[in-house]
Amino acid sequence: MDDAQLQELKQRAPGLAAIYHTGRETITHAADLAALEQARVQVLGRKSALTEFLRSIPGLPAEERPLVGRGGNVIRKELEELVEAREAELKRAALSDSLAHERIDVTLPGQSFPAGHEHLISRTMREVEDIFIGLGYQIAEGPEVELDYYNFTALNTPPSHPARSAHDTFWVVEQRETMPEAVVDADRGVLLRTHTSPVQVRVMEQQRPPVYILSPGKVYRRDSDATHTPMFHQAEGLVVDEGVTLADLKGTVAHFTREFFGPDRDIRVRPHFFPFTEPSIEVDVSCELCGGKGCRSCKYSGWLEIMGAGMVDPAVYSFVDYDPEKVSGFAFGMGVERMAMLKHGIPDLRLFYDNDVRFLRQF
Ligand code: PHE
Repeated sequence: MDDAQLQELKQRAPGLAAIYHTGRETITHAADLAALEQARVQVLGRKSALTEFLRSIPGLPAEERPLVGRGGNVIRKELEELVEAREAELKRAALSDSLAHERIDVTLPGQSFPAGHEHLISRTMREVEDIFIGLGYQIAEGPEVELDYYNFTALNTPPSHPARSAHDTFWVVEQRETMPEAVVDADRGVLLRTHTSPVQVRVMEQQRPPVYILSPGKVYRRDSDATHTPMFHQAEGLVVDEGVTLADLKGTVAHFTREFFGPDRDIRVRPHFFPFTEPSIEVDVSCELCGGKGCRSCKYSGWLEIMGAGMVDPAVYSFVDYDPEKVSGFAFGMGVERMAMLKHGIPDLRLFYDNDVRFLRQF
């Protein structure tokens, strides 16, 4: 509204001019957004003098109504625009104020969130797998709840073998429960596998030679002390091909040991017995602590046992229809917890399963 218009309004409708003046004052003096909202309600709200004035127009003499009505609407629109303008102004001021005062130091270190990582046993398992994958082996897995047939019978393990006793094995369904006495050897027992060796048989049933597999997984035995837990992990290797000899087994294990423990480690093999390998051996790795001279951790022998192994017994081939005249092979099985303990100098197997993060996060 320009001055001339305002002058005219003052003369013809002094009440309205006064409303306009106070409205302007109230709005322009609002110091922040909250005050401005209050001012808006006060000047333009339903109970404001302006609204009341506009409501009274129909009661005015007919000749006054057009001018006062138009004037009222012009004033309302102007005051509304004034509120908007003031609002924009206050927002701009608030923004430049916060830009001036709220600084962030982008060089401060960020907030760090603790990230978990693989359990040492999983990592060790993966390291073992990687080494054999590097040699062209395939990973093969088998069930943890296993048939007696695969865990024992087809591995040339006779019914009299001590591992078959309830004392050493977790039976899910004992043979005796399902089978009459006369057919107790019919291999129907169901158990938690005591080793990963049953995977050997399962793989050979499915596949003709050549076979190069590594089978990692959980196994179960009724044991519990500082060096035995009822559940632990093994990694099982099986190779069957033409012309495979014990020298190949030794070479493979030596390569694995040096990859896993480091290049200066030696291995030695000792004769042993397993029902499903012939000849059977146990493999030791030289003790790192004493460099082979003998210390407490290697029981003064200079050597630490790492796995059982041997040449696949021809009796096993007869269960899977392989011809022992044409092929030969070797198998080995290692305890993954034991490998991790030897590699990292961990004294007690139970530390792996106590789930104390102070222990676990070291690896
Ligand atoms: N399965 C044997 C054990 O658990 C280890 C083994 C595997 C031995 C393969 C020979 C060949 O003790």
